[in-house]
Amino acid sequence: MRTLSPSLLSADFSKLSDEIESIEKAGTQYLHLDVMDGHFVPNISFGAPIIKSIRPISNMIFDVHLMIENPEKYIEDFAKAGGDILNVHAEVCPDLSKTIDMIHSLGCKAGVTIKPDTPVDAVIDVLEKVDMVLVMTVYPGFSGQKLIPEAMKKIPELVKIRKNKNLNFDVQIDGGVNMKNIREVLETGVDSIVAGSAVFGAENPGKAAAEFLNIFKEYEK
Ligand code: DX5
Ligand code: ZN
Repeated sequence: MRTLSPSLLSADFSKLSDEIESIEKAGTQYLHLDVMDGHFVPNISFGAPIIKSIRPISNMIFDVHLMIENPEKYIEDFAKAGGDILNVHAEVCPDLSKTIDMIHSLGCKAGVTIKPDTPVDAVIDVLEKVDMVLVMTVYPGFSGQKLIPEAMKKIPELVKIRKNKNLNFDVQIDGGVNMKNIREVLETGVDSIVAGSAVFGAENPGKAAAEFLNIFKEYEK
C-alpha cells in the first residue's frame, strides 16, 4: 500500500489539532515531521516537545525527518516523544550502521535519507537493515520548492536493488510533490509520498489528502 505523509511544516500552527485531524479523517497513514536545526539546514523548525504534545491527538504513524547534525545525540528524545520512524541523513552519520542499530534498539523503525546530490552508494551498505530510504527531491530546508527530476532517478534504482537483493525497505520521496506531478512520481515505484505545501498549503488539507489517496489507488501494486 502506498502511504501519504503530509509534512506538518506547511500546516497552520495556530490550529495544529484541526489540521492533523482533517488529514487523519481522510485516511492519511503517516505524518511527516520535519526537524531542522539551523546547522545541517539553513532553517529552524521544531523539536521533540512539539512532537510529544501532538502524539496523544493522533494515531497516524509519526515519520520524523531529522535534518540535524549529530542525530545520534537526539534520537532517544525523538523516540520518547513518540516518533515511530526516525529518519537520519546519511551525510551526517559517520557510522550509519551504528546509528540505525541505535534507532532500532529504541523500538523505532529506522530510515536513511539522502540529499539530491548524494548517490545511492552512500547507503548501499545499510540497505539490509533499514526500514526506509528517503530520497530528497529538493535541497532540505524549506517546503514549497520545485522537484528536481534528476534526484528522482534514484527511486527506480533503489526499487531495483531491493528486488535483486530480496530486501524489504520502503522508498519515500520528499520535496516538490504536487497534484500535477504525482502520477509521474508514482510511476517510479515509490512506496511513500511526502507532500507539504500540496496538502497543508491547500485550502482544505483533508480534501487534498483524499485526492492524493484516490490517485494512489490507481497505482496499487
Ligand atoms: C524540506 C522538507 C520537506 C518539505 C516538503 O526540507 O524535508 O519535507 O516540508 O514540502 P513540499 O512538499 O512543499 O516540497
Ligand atoms: Zn521532510
